[in-house]
Amino acid sequence: MSGVHRPGADLRTPDTVEAGRPPSPLTAVPERLSGRVARGVVMASQANIPQVRLPTKMAHCVFRTDDIAAVRDWWCTVLGAQVVHENEFICFISYDDEHHRMAFVNRGQPGRYESRKGTLEHIAYTMGTFGDLMDHYERLRADGILPVRTINHGPTTSMYYADPDGNGVEFQVENFATMAECIEFMNGPVFAQNPIGVLFDADVLLERFRRGDPLAELVQQGSAPAA
Ligand SMILES: [Fe+2]
Repeated sequence: MSGVHRPGADLRTPDTVEAGRPPSPLTAVPERLSGRVARGVVMASQANIPQVRLPTKMAHCVFRTDDIAAVRDWWCTVLGAQVVHENEFICFISYDDEHHRMAFVNRGQPGRYESRKGTLEHIAYTMGTFGDLMDHYERLRADGILPVRTINHGPTTSMYYADPDGNGVEFQVENFATMAECIEFMNGPVFAQNPIGVLFDADVLLERFRRGDPLAELVQQGSAPAA
């Protein structure tokens, strides 16, 4: 599919950079950090586990709500944001060149949201490259931290985790080379029919990545079907 990442270099080594993207910060975790992160760094160096890859930015947050229109209008006014895509289930808004900075999901929609308490669905961090996301998954897996949900949304390949209180956090990488192509997809028929995306098996996706399958294939929905 046109518009997806084109691997211009070997993305599977720590020092390479995806075309058009800044390099991802690599370990250099400050000494002041302690606990699981610091221990993870030690584990990485001692057990040849992939090095710590840090997010390049905080991308968005998602709230659950009983009144999408009310919170949409409030946040659009407060942030000067505009609606990027909206349906009865979810609304995406943005105030800059990110495809969405916030989203609001209908708490009453049958499914995974209705039984969860609180209004925060998740916050999201963007990783610099697809390889960074894979390294991040592998490192956390080695530390016994597994995602609760892995979805290719179309715009992003995303892995969701839950902290000990159940707060959601998404680590994502962009699937499209440009934001214009991403927005075009979000306004197209595929996204209109399925704005959530397709589940994937993270272990299968990691295995495909490690063996060198083309990145343009890996970012496609259905590249690593969930069992
Ligand atoms: Fe998200």
